[in-house]
Amino acid sequence: MKFFIDTANLDQIKEAQDLGVLDGVTTNPSLMAKEGITGDANVIAHYKAICAIVDDNVSAEVISTTYDEIIKEGEALAKLDPKIVVKVPMIKDGVKAIKYLSSKGIRTNCTLIFSAGQALLAAKAGATYVSPFLGRLDDISTDGLQLIEDIRLIFDNYGYPTQILAASIRGPLHIVNCAKLGADVITGPLSAITALLKHPLTDSGLAQFLADHKKASEAK
Ligand code: G3P
Repeated sequence: MKFFIDTANLDQIKEAQDLGVLDGVTTNPSLMAKEGITGDANVIAHYKAICAIVDDNVSAEVISTTYDEIIKEGEALAKLDPKIVVKVPMIKDGVKAIKYLSSKGIRTNCTLIFSAGQALLAAKAGATYVSPFLGRLDDISTDGLQLIEDIRLIFDNYGYPTQILAASIRGPLHIVNCAKLGADVITGPLSAITALLKHPLTDSGLAQFLADHKKASEAK
């Protein structure tokens, strides 16, 4: 299972990379705005800075919504660095653009997926990744994990190579449950990834081991 971090914050990306378990980064216009990154030149420089930190898989989202513009913007983003994956929204022109970009060997991530039908369409168009937003479904009392399970079944039925990138992850249990359901990738905040480390029995067990070692050493 691949771990992506869902942020445009360079310090958090570096911290996740240092942990040694990071496979990529997903960004979106909201995450870029949150870091105060505005203007084409700054956005491009920021994508390059992210690419310099991680090994691969940097999702850069287009802000265009028409076929010609998505292609133009997507090709320009892809040229920035071989690590770039062009993130395209699940709209009619987006699906057409994914088909085109895939035919040119450009990796794509179809974002804003909220139904199995949308995921099927993106897979047929040749998307490298589909991003179902499970947290946002949970937020409106709809079972986000059920969507992951449905997409897994459909992709396996037909052998679609499109990878399920479970997005809008809220915490460690989302990650574990996505792993149980066979999602190929999760993308979430650093806090959700580092929360996987935590267990009170680990902390108390380690404290006891160290205390026993100290006591034995002092007794010599
Ligand atoms: O990057 C897309 C997705 O992960 C957004 O998550 O937390 O804004 O619902 P969130």
